[in-house]
Amino acid sequence: MWENKDIKKILISEDQIKTRSAELGRQITEDYKDCEEPLLLVALLRGSVPFLAELMKHIDLDIQVDFMDVSSYQGTKSTDIRIIKDLDTSIQGMNILLVEDIIDTGKTIKEVVKTLKHKGANSVKIVALLNKPEGRMVDVNADYNGFEIENEFVVGYGLDFNQRYRCLPYVGVLKEECYQN
Ligand code: IMP
Ligand code: MG
Repeated sequence: MWENKDIKKILISEDQIKTRSAELGRQITEDYKDCEEPLLLVALLRGSVPFLAELMKHIDLDIQVDFMDVSSYQGTKSTDIRIIKDLDTSIQGMNILLVEDIIDTGKTIKEVVKTLKHKGANSVKIVALLNKPEGRMVDVNADYNGFEIENEFVVGYGLDFNQRYRCLPYVGVLKEECYQN
């Protein structure tokens, strides 16, 4: 596993993410296998893309995939959400599984769930690679959780700081001095 000079510590390794994604994929397969409605994975751009790619290999169902881009972050502080790219698929009557990189305050995902229910989805569930329970400001939780982490800012495996560090193959904590410029 290669190191990056800006990373203080590695929290979750690529192997751990692969193993956990396989477990989640198996659980999702089991939970949806008798559903008649199609299952649509809705990945939130851009942070969830590496997780989506890993997870979907382990879902043994006839799934479809679509993307939404919702912005809530400026630097390291949560702000209101804004829909930048909406779905291309009509979701009326579909089972939706939202794929998210991390749930922090919960505001982003709660808004997205509301929007998708409003559009006539049959069901909306959430799978998140990471969960920061201490950051929660609204009442929402993932149905499928990868890892619980402390309340610190992480990057890698899709997660960014000002669009950087997404390509790191692990989740790590950024050194404080990297926030300062
Ligand atoms: P929430 O609305 O506060 O739950 O924010 C969720 C979104 O904020 C995620 O989709 C991430 O894009 C971003 N986010 C929250 N915490 C972190 C972090 O520690 N590192 C990078 N992005 C984060
Ligand atoms: Mg995000």
